[in-house]
Amino acid sequence: MRKELKPYSLCLNFESGELSFYNKKVEIKLSDLKNFFSNREAVESKLTKGEDPLIYSYYDCVQPPVRGEMSFGVTRILPGKIGDEYNHTRGHYHTDGGAGEIYVGIKGEGFLLLQKRDGSCTSEKLERGRVVYTPTDWNGHRTVNTGKDELVFLTIEQADSGHDYETIKEKGFAKLVVERNGKPVMVNNSRYK
Ligand code: NI
Repeated sequence: MRKELKPYSLCLNFESGELSFYNKKVEIKLSDLKNFFSNREAVESKLTKGEDPLIYSYYDCVQPPVRGEMSFGVTRILPGKIGDEYNHTRGHYHTDGGAGEIYVGIKGEGFLLLQKRDGSCTSEKLERGRVVYTPTDWNGHRTVNTGKDELVFLTIEQADSGHDYETIKEKGFAKLVVERNGKPVMVNNSRYK
């Protein structure tokens, strides 16, 4: 018998993106993202200098991974670049291919990269007040901060979506978001397998 969950509520500050309650907090530093940035030399050069900056953190309200329950949380990506590639999350596919996701922009500006398993890749803008839907066929997703401030957004997904980070670690994303003449552009990732 599964444990019955009790209804609950909390506050999301629409200005700062802070949650008044969360049951999981994760901080991801550059050393955790070694194989997730395309410019490995830029990563190594920072790490060997003893620099290991925080790239992003997430604050989640995670439910037990039971079909029908929903998990949600706020992700905060710090501004910056590694080489010419903007700071981003690891990105993942949902192990449950039937699980979509909803993103709600709260603060800052950036993009959500969406990818199919066959390598088709597209992007949607993410900014305050913008809602992005991730359909099940495009369930590889990574968020990229292209702004000068933090990119903060809310995500809502099935509690049993499952997160496959390994495929992204091995194969990468087909597209990268890099700075060219001071502006973000999507380019093909030459490392993509
Ligand atoms: Ni997801």
